[in-house]
Amino acid sequence: MVNKTLEDIPGVGPAIAEKLREAGYDDLMAIAVASPADVAEKCEIGDKKAADIIEGAKVCADIGNFETGEDILERRKSVTKLTTGSKAVDELLGGGLESQAITEFFGEFGSSKTQICFQLAVNATLPEEMGGFDSEVVIIDTENTFRPERIVQMSNYLGIDPAEVLKKIHVARAFNSQHQILLVDKAMELSKTKKIKLLIVDSLTSHFRAEYIGRGALAERQQMLNRHMHDLLSFATLNNAAIAVTNQVSSKPDAFFGDPTRPIGGHIVGHTATFRIYLRKGKAGKRVARLIDSPNMPEGEAVFTITEDGIKD
Ligand code: GTP
Ligand code: MG
Repeated sequence: MVNKTLEDIPGVGPAIAEKLREAGYDDLMAIAVASPADVAEKCEIGDKKAADIIEGAKVCADIGNFETGEDILERRKSVTKLTTGSKAVDELLGGGLESQAITEFFGEFGSSKTQICFQLAVNATLPEEMGGFDSEVVIIDTENTFRPERIVQMSNYLGIDPAEVLKKIHVARAFNSQHQILLVDKAMELSKTKKIKLLIVDSLTSHFRAEYIGRGALAERQQMLNRHMHDLLSFATLNNAAIAVTNQVSSKPDAFFGDPTRPIGGHIVGHTATFRIYLRKGKAGKRVARLIDSPNMPEGEAVFTITEDGIKD
């Protein structure tokens, strides 16, 4: 796989290879995990041709085969964990936020979803021996809630230079769901020149919720969200990165979505996210994190607080 190039895919000559590279598909793995519709659209080729190229890339990249448990264990050895700032929450997650996975934080307004995102962004810039990723960060901000002032406060508390931390945090405002989806491609581009091991989408669902209204739009909304989640998972796999997404649940009964404690996006988000954490407000400024769904950790709860200095036990 290491030695193969795009031109090794059957049916890909110099002209198509150039189109693929221009569209950002510059290695076999990126093509192998792409969707035929995306490749067709971006490279202006037919759907059938795009599907053939993707199949070819899978063969060249040697993916799509069964792996033994031993192989998977070997790959999982490269999984790294990012501290949340709270020992209790880290323990709940089995050591912190995992790379190669999506972690969803859901809860009502003020439950601390955004504060956790800020803390994760700061922590990701920390050296590995401090529980960080020694990396840069991408934040896709859909609600205009990014506050550099909070990054400065949290950095000061940790004794790291806030200016250096801010330089490593790349924030893009997403104006609508389509834009939000495109920004994942942009993040992928950025990850070619910078080490980006944390990608945050805060909020994953607000644009989708606002734009796709009524039962008639439900199927299309779920389809777009599904695609977005898979793009995020590709980013996680290709960059050995952790993905954190937030999802608001309403405290008021919702005429359309029914159960107020059910996160929007329903089973699409739920099945693609590897870890789901339900956040709720507790007494005296405390917050409670509940691990809902994890492939290898028991369900449980952890209590933490939000302070000026950040997320604490
Ligand atoms: P929505 O985005 O509205 O769904 O909410 P959210 O879950 O993202 O909530 P967010 O993370 O914005 O949490 C807001 C909570 O953090 C509020 O209760 C604030 O009072 C608290 N908070 C924010 N900044 C500070 C701070 O500097 N010090 C302290 N102690 N609390 C803070
Ligand atoms: Mg928020």
